[in-house]
Amino acid sequence: MIMLVSPSIVSSSLARLQDEIRKCEQAGVFSLHLDIMDGHFVPNITMGPDFVKAIRNATDLRLESHLMLERPDRYYRNFLDAGSDVILIHVESPMSTGRLIRQMEADGCRYGIVVNPETPVEKAYPFLDGADILLIMSVHPGFSGQTFIRETLPKIQAARKHIDSRGLKAMIEIDGGINDRTGVEAADAGADILVSASYIFSGSVSERVSTLKAIKPAKAR
Ligand code: DX5
Ligand code: ZN
Repeated sequence: MIMLVSPSIVSSSLARLQDEIRKCEQAGVFSLHLDIMDGHFVPNITMGPDFVKAIRNATDLRLESHLMLERPDRYYRNFLDAGSDVILIHVESPMSTGRLIRQMEADGCRYGIVVNPETPVEKAYPFLDGADILLIMSVHPGFSGQTFIRETLPKIQAARKHIDSRGLKAMIEIDGGINDRTGVEAADAGADILVSASYIFSGSVSERVSTLKAIKPAKAR
């Protein structure tokens, strides 16, 4: 069992995107993590569906779109049609998460649930039955390059127990401030997937992905 790694491509060199994607493929990443920001839910703007479509045309890797949007219900289909394999939605988006999930399930859309650092992880529990991913944010969403918030580690531990005791399929993913040290702490707490942007793309992609993949998940010890 190896640690799964999902590079957040928005921090790569966008002028050499194809090349950066190739490096991720060769390094054996689990998926590409696409940070979609609307300038309302978070104070930053990144990519739209056309950008995701361009990435889809450039790779067969699994694409997960992390929707940091006020109205994911209005836009998730565009990101699905653009070629996303999994859509990650925040419980904090100001709309009914339950209704959105029912809509997504009717569309045959695979999804994951995201909780911000200050949101109790239990808020995600009612929505995990059909979810592929539980994403726990370890920074306040909006920007890469922030410091890992250590207080989120007990949330990973609690979620690990909850998911294992209920036999759910959802994998636990952690996003924000992940590097070779904080990745170990997240793995010890029970994370399955590490998202990383600035750590991976500020050095050799192949070396840094290998370093993160080599971290032993708690389950494998
Ligand atoms: C934060 C995003 C993260 C972020 C991670 O808003 O959801 O995916 O880009 O960046 P690093 O790994 O640099 O903290
Ligand atoms: Zn993200």
